[in-house]
Amino acid sequence: MRSSASRRGVWAPSRGAPKHTSAGRSPMPGSGPHRDPLVILEDLDQVEARRREWRKRKQKLPPELKGTAEDPAFYRQLISYAKPYRLKMSVALCMSALAATAKVGYFFALEGLLAPIFRAGSERVAPGPEQLAQHVLKFPGIEGLGDPLLPLAMLRDNVTWWWSSVPPLSQLKWAAGFLVLLVILEQLNKYVQRMIMRGVSMDIVRTLRVALFSKLLQLSLRFFHKNHSGKLLSRVTADLTKLGNLLVDVLVNMFSDVFTVIGSLFYVFYSGGGFVLIALAVAGVTFVPIQQIGRRVRQKENAVHRKLSEVFQSLSEALSNQKVVKAFGAEAHELERFRVVNDRVLDGRLKTASLRFRTEPVVELMGAVSVAAFLLWGGNQVIEGKWEGQSLFSVVLALTTVVASLRRLADTSTKFQSGLSSADRVATLLYAKAEIVDKPDAVSLDGFHKSVSFEHVDFRYDANNPVLTDVSFELARGQTLAIVGHTGSGKSTVGDLVARFYDVDSGAVKIDGHDVRDVTVESLRGLLAMVTQETVLFEGSIRSNIAYAMPGLSDAEIESAARAAHAHEFIMAMPDGYATQVGERGTSLSGGERQRIAIARALVGQAPILLLDEATSALDTRSEKLVQEAIDDLRRGHTAIIIAHRLSTIRDADLILVIEQGRVVERGSHEELMHQGGIYQHMVSIQGAERVRSS
Ligand SMILES: Nc1ncnc2c1ncn2[C@@H]1O[C@H](COP(=O)(O)OP(=O)(O)O)[C@@H](O)[C@H]1O
Ligand SMILES: [Mg+2]
Repeated sequence: MRSSASRRGVWAPSRGAPKHTSAGRSPMPGSGPHRDPLVILEDLDQVEARRREWRKRKQKLPPELKGTAEDPAFYRQLISYAKPYRLKMSVALCMSALAATAKVGYFFALEGLLAPIFRAGSERVAPGPEQLAQHVLKFPGIEGLGDPLLPLAMLRDNVTWWWSSVPPLSQLKWAAGFLVLLVILEQLNKYVQRMIMRGVSMDIVRTLRVALFSKLLQLSLRFFHKNHSGKLLSRVTADLTKLGNLLVDVLVNMFSDVFTVIGSLFYVFYSGGGFVLIALAVAGVTFVPIQQIGRRVRQKENAVHRKLSEVFQSLSEALSNQKVVKAFGAEAHELERFRVVNDRVLDGRLKTASLRFRTEPVVELMGAVSVAAFLLWGGNQVIEGKWEGQSLFSVVLALTTVVASLRRLADTSTKFQSGLSSADRVATLLYAKAEIVDKPDAVSLDGFHKSVSFEHVDFRYDANNPVLTDVSFELARGQTLAIVGHTGSGKSTVGDLVARFYDVDSGAVKIDGHDVRDVTVESLRGLLAMVTQETVLFEGSIRSNIAYAMPGLSDAEIESAARAAHAHEFIMAMPDGYATQVGERGTSLSGGERQRIAIARALVGQAPILLLDEATSALDTRSEKLVQEAIDDLRRGHTAIIIAHRLSTIRDADLILVIEQGRVVERGSHEELMHQGGIYQHMVSIQGAERVRSS
């Protein structure tokens, strides 16, 4: 059975959350006649699987399956998060362009540094001042304007001529100093760039994490039934971190490597001429296997990730159910379970790593071949006296740089691919369609005046299991409705529909004549004080639990709520009173104590409609009597829906509904139902007999 702790007692206020209008419930073409669109859309894994199917068929994604790392909207959103860092990012970009320029300068400097050495033996003709002047005055004429490279060629000529007028020894010193300086600048640049981009990416991750959490708070309970918390956890943590790394990798490594490749190739072309064509061809060919492997890495990473979320799942389950684990002596079982999923992750990781490592030799080999080919060609040129040794040397170095950058690019690209699959999962969650959303023209309820009613309500959690069928009732303000019935008959579900945790399949739930789907969720839930069947407390003090989500409450207000819930005495008997820490999920309290704190928590809000789901079920007979008195008091000031376990507690309710398998089978007051002699009367007599026996 599904743990009901996760389905009850969850209260996610949607205050200030962004509004989404589409509930995404349109049936999907081609999805088969029995597929329930709601079921598909609420389950993240299913959404992703469906999307993969659609993509394979190369069809246009239907709007309800949108929200992927390939969706431009996702990148627009990322860019919008990055907007505040525009300046920083452009600085970083300029810096990486600058670094690449410095690289080119490095090659020139090297050529200049080596020139005197290579020429040392041969006779050298230094240009005279007139020759120099003649060259400096060289400018492209009108006829040269069509050729974009002409000004560069001129510049080169001019610089070369100026440089050759400097005496060799000074040349050597200048070039050596320049070289060192360039490396220093390059490294400084890299450091600043990395720091900037790391900061920006961490900020974006932080913003996204909050956005994800805010999204999670908007999503309906149905979503949480379909998606294990472990899976959600891994998206908000591991996937997001990976996405952040992706940003850094892209923005720092990718850009600077691309710039370096361009700059170095430019130098190769400039110094080595048409050879750039071969180099470009090699670069192009190299990227084909890289892309292929990258795609496969991404697929594998996806599989690994599914396994990683199993690790989270197993971990969170074992940690939150320690009592059961220990009671059943299941430590070994849990350990084995964990070991298995953990091993699977390791296995997957190794596979992707081996794929990744396979790209490296490919690129290396391509690089080595291109460099060797160039050495052959260039060496010949030098031997034939058509080219200078120092140029060959620098160009080879530049080519090696290109190869190194390409290798890093290949690595970045595979990392990028696997980062994309994380981005995909983050995007799916970010764009998950919330089922319960305000309509654009939703009205805000200004209070509760007349009645709560159900009109022929049908409801199901899953496609094939009707839970409520044709439920109707009207509860006037100030009255008490009691719902009784066997476990699993649908009582709690009625309460959930009043709070609009789910939308009905047909019929309507109305408050003061407004369909709950036409009013704002916030104003609707503001009218309700709820005590859920499973009482869940939060880590913190008793005080903060009673004042949950209402931090401005005074001590007097908290105490009066606690008194009304008959909790004050036991709280005061605790060593720290209201400051007592309740432990994770309230585990340090007994069930009855937890329930009374939950009742106090519901009361402090002073909401007009009280929804008590078996609020006295966890209490012993004595405290039940106390709480019952409290509830009786409260009922006088409230409109109440009481889901009752013990029938003695609802004798004087204005209306009693008996529910069997989701249908109202009997309705009326206690007396009326006792007269009918049906299920209710039977239940009362059984409980009465038990009571007599137990007292
Ligand atoms: N989140 C859920 N997903 C699927 N089925 C559910 C869910 N919650 C309750 N149900 C099913 O709906 C039926 C009614 O549940 P509920 O309203 O909690 O019954 P009651 O409160 O009367 O014991 C049960 O059969 C239960 O198994
Ligand atoms: Mg119930």
